[in-house]
Amino acid sequence: MTHLKPKVLRFESLPSTNTELSRLANEGAEEGVSVVADEQTAGRGRLQRAWSSPKGAGLYFSILLRPKFATNYWPLITMMAAVAVYDTLGEACRLQADIKWPNDLLSGERKICGILAEAIETPSGRAVIVGIGINLTEDAYPAELADVATSVSEATGRAADREAILNGLLRWLGHWYWLLSEGGGPESIVSGWSSRSSYAFGRLVSNGDDVWQGTTCGLERDGALRLRTGDDEIKVVRAGDVTSLRRL
Ligand code: BTN
Repeated sequence: MTHLKPKVLRFESLPSTNTELSRLANEGAEEGVSVVADEQTAGRGRLQRAWSSPKGAGLYFSILLRPKFATNYWPLITMMAAVAVYDTLGEACRLQADIKWPNDLLSGERKICGILAEAIETPSGRAVIVGIGINLTEDAYPAELADVATSVSEATGRAADREAILNGLLRWLGHWYWLLSEGGGPESIVSGWSSRSSYAFGRLVSNGDDVWQGTTCGLERDGALRLRTGDDEIKVVRAGDVTSLRRL
């Protein structure tokens, strides 16, 4: 079930698929237009980080969305994409991943996929570029990240089929985006995310600087993470990253 009509534009090399798609969106590209590159020379990650993108080592993909629902639910778009990647990796690679709030895909506690969603203004209205980088081989990430990163081929012991992953991604994105915008609405993403993530309940987490810590206790309706920080205290986290302290 989908109303997304993906149209995939392929490139050998781009600075960043998100940047290229943002340019196309400003020229009037429709919802569903997607960009894939064999390599990125200036791949971008969350929190102003670079995203290593060597030729053929990863899937570097962006899709344009023009959501019609209220902007306070737009944070769910990136979580919707994480759920779609989770289902794609399960189906196309027989890989059971995990999702770290809000949208990192992990395999055995190591990052296998990152998602960068960017809201932009275009002449035909506000839009969201959802950029997805999946590590296909160990060449995708720098050697110094070997303790915290992994790839589809390492996690499965089999070569990653980039086309099968891309096709699955287009289908699952269509499915989950339809659920978010027309089907079950925000609840479908909150429950889909929660049932796929070990971070939804009972994980002791902190922010990077250990300014606070708490035990996860589900998501708000807009995707914010609820933490129990004391007997009667609930903290709601809407931005940034969390770090797992230990599994309860
Ligand atoms: C993260 O920091 O975890 C997000 C990484 C997102 C990387 C992808 S690769 C395709 C798209 N183009 C970019 O420049 N970034 C995203």
